[in-house]
Amino acid sequence: MKKTILVTGGAGFIGTHTVVELRKAGYEAVVLDNLSNSSPKSLERVAELTGGDAIPFCRADIRDRNALEALFSQYEFDACIHFAGLKAVGESVAKPWEYYENNIAGTLVLLDVMRAHGCKNIIFSSSATVYGDPLQIPITEECPKGLCTNPYGWTKSMLEQILTDMQTADPEWNVVLLRYFNPIGAHPSGRIGENPNGIPNNLMPYITQVAIGKRECLGVFGDDYDTPDGTGVRDYIHVVDLAEGHVKALEAIDRHCGLAVYNLGTGHGYSVLEVVHAFEEANQVKIPYVIKPRRAGDIAQCYSDPSKAEHELGWKARYGILEMCRDSWNWQKKNPDGYGE
Ligand code: NAD
Ligand code: UFG
Repeated sequence: MKKTILVTGGAGFIGTHTVVELRKAGYEAVVLDNLSNSSPKSLERVAELTGGDAIPFCRADIRDRNALEALFSQYEFDACIHFAGLKAVGESVAKPWEYYENNIAGTLVLLDVMRAHGCKNIIFSSSATVYGDPLQIPITEECPKGLCTNPYGWTKSMLEQILTDMQTADPEWNVVLLRYFNPIGAHPSGRIGENPNGIPNNLMPYITQVAIGKRECLGVFGDDYDTPDGTGVRDYIHVVDLAEGHVKALEAIDRHCGLAVYNLGTGHGYSVLEVVHAFEEANQVKIPYVIKPRRAGDIAQCYSDPSKAEHELGWKARYGILEMCRDSWNWQKKNPDGYGE
């Protein structure tokens, strides 16, 4: 029988790509999303990419206990992949209460309804941001968590702690904490991708909007970091690789992993200027840029040691930076206004 997976936040950037991989791997994915940062069109595209059957979808908020109760009564979920959350770093500084309430209170409601219905398997979208300014590079999972520089990061760090404590208290839980590095790229079809509202905060969507002519010029935030060319170094990972990591994490849950923590990255760090040049090389498009002051809260470098995921999950990123740049641009070119809303 097909396993049924609840995907909260499944209409978003990483969620849509994960639903594609889940369906490819033979799972039934049921999406719950309040569409606060996504479009219902994204799920129509996912259906189209995976054989046409509509994605079972519940438009609801994870803080809405009644809606969750109804959904858990309708389906017998084998596990939940929990993407739903607010994720804009700058906005979280301006609206900390909204971030703590949405991300933490929402997850507490979700966990309570899950256990009441006997579903104690969860994969949680965490972030490399929990390492703060990392004590070691490349970052292994043993690297201690650090001081986050914004409320968004703290919601991830605190939710990791809450999930860890719940698993300790009740070992029937299987909890997989996936610490994503910097997801970019898009499905190679160009049908689904990242759809930011307003001015993009993140590097790759900013670059693609410069490439398409929506923005004049990229601001490079600082060229005086202690890195080879002075610009910030990150571990960019193709969103399809990241999505596949979730399928592997479900297999770990099948093996009753208890609590497990994995970095999902490529292990390679690229500077801002290296990404700009890779984008230009992959797509033959010029990206004008100017050097700007450092952005508050940024660190010099952050890249993973992803070997634990390779050894324990049998997962390894396949795509390189040129493919990430190609697919980001392919999506932007084909969808200059995202999903058009
Ligand atoms: P996204 O905004 O595209 O997707 C998140 C989805 O959650 C959206 O569709 C949004 O409508 C939904 N949502 C938000 N609050 C909700 C609520 N209260 N109830 C129901 N739905 C709600 O973001 P994404 O990039 O796909 O990120 C997915 C997850 O991965 C998030 O938890 C994010 O914090 C985490 N993450 C993302 C990155 C990144 O760089 N994209 C890095 C590390 C971790
Ligand atoms: N950058 C620029 N110009 C821009 C945007 C970004 O120079 O317009 C630089 C940043 O200074 C940084 C690099 O590009 O050096 C990457 O910045 P992003 O904003 O794309 O990504 P971050 O590493 O700052 O943060 C992202 C997510 C966080 C997540 C973190 C985890 O936004 O939510 O990755 O790795 F926690």
